[in-house]
Amino acid sequence: MTAPALPAIGSPGLEIRRRLTDVDLGHPLGRPVDSDNLSAVAALNGLYRAVNAVDDPDQPPRQVAKTQARLRYGSDLEPGTVWLYQPDRTGEPIGALQIDLMDPPNDVLAFVGVNVHPAYRRRGHGTLLLAHGLRALPAAVRTVIAGGRHTAAMAGFLERHRFRLGSTDVPHIQHLDQISWADMDGLEAESAAASAGYELQRLTAPTSPELLLELVAVAAAIDDAPVSGDLTQTEFAHDVAQLQRVEAATLGRGDQQYRVIARHRSTGVIAGHTVVTVDPDNPTADQNDTAVLPDHRGHRLGLAMKINMLHWLTDTHPTLRQIVTTMDANNTPMIEINHALGYSPGPPNASYELAR
Ligand SMILES: CC(C)(COP(=O)(O)OP(=O)(O)OC[C@H]1O[C@@H](n2cnc3c(N)ncnc32)[C@H](O)[C@@H]1OP(=O)(O)O)[C@@H](O)C(=O)NCCC(=O)NCCS
Repeated sequence: MTAPALPAIGSPGLEIRRRLTDVDLGHPLGRPVDSDNLSAVAALNGLYRAVNAVDDPDQPPRQVAKTQARLRYGSDLEPGTVWLYQPDRTGEPIGALQIDLMDPPNDVLAFVGVNVHPAYRRRGHGTLLLAHGLRALPAAVRTVIAGGRHTAAMAGFLERHRFRLGSTDVPHIQHLDQISWADMDGLEAESAAASAGYELQRLTAPTSPELLLELVAVAAAIDDAPVSGDLTQTEFAHDVAQLQRVEAATLGRGDQQYRVIARHRSTGVIAGHTVVTVDPDNPTADQNDTAVLPDHRGHRLGLAMKINMLHWLTDTHPTLRQIVTTMDANNTPMIEINHALGYSPGPPNASYELAR
């Protein structure tokens, strides 16, 4: 059976929510980058590449098309707004400011991103960009969040501007060329025995609205994941419309979404799912949520679904090199599963916040 197509962007509930697109911040920022303006998008991409080369060197070089797709679709059709910073008006931009706003009830939160080219740091450019960003925020915003790779520059800069550390997390990486398939076979047999009452199924986006409705409960089960620190949290709506927004943004960006579900044989209930996003041009895939309904925990479903996903991805994308997942340091059940699968920790991320 073919899945019904995802409603087109522009259908009720699935429009792209663009914010601050008309805000002219004056010299040296001006108007936001228009995703149709390829030279501005290329300049922004060049800046991100220069910043990543220093602050996040494990990232593969960013592609212009991906920067453009991010500006158009974001992660769920609510893309942030970005301004290039070009103090001498003529040369390459030496910084960028990004602001992400959200719908109620999250309109009291804003994410602000400041990036300064490594060759121009410690001259006050970052401070000026942040001041512009804070001034541009709507009055409703009470909490400003900034984050990324937890470098000394980021910590020093944000602490200097009275942000406080809200949370840290450690990305974990599974290197696909280092997997012991003999170990995987053993784990797969073990998890298959424990999860005999469940059937695994593979789904790719777009998922039919009927199936998405069945998936709402497992999608909401991610809220049980432990969160350390006291960072103000975004409230995620777990409903069909939000799941569709994420799928539409993923497909709009040219990425692919893979989902393995575990269906309880006797009741038909979807008891768990694991989701991975693959950018076909990037050797690193993103592990998104893995969640199991409370009544169905303890059957090794997390392990079973993730091993099934691993076979699927390695068969479908032979050029994939690694899968990256981000877990809270207190999420012991997930850490144990990932440890069994051979994940190793990468450089930490941090989120800071400022109360207004
Ligand atoms: C963080 C970043 C934006 C700072 O930009 P910048 O132009 O160098 O910042 P400023 O010159 O305005 O620095 C202001 C103050 O922040 C602090 N600071 C900045 N960089 C620092 C560093 N590497 N170590 C310690 N403190 C630092 C200092 O107190 C500095 O004042 P000083 O230079 O008089 O001592 C830049 O390093 C960057 O783009 N990093 C990657 C992206 C990032 O982490 N952004 C922040 C989170 S959104």
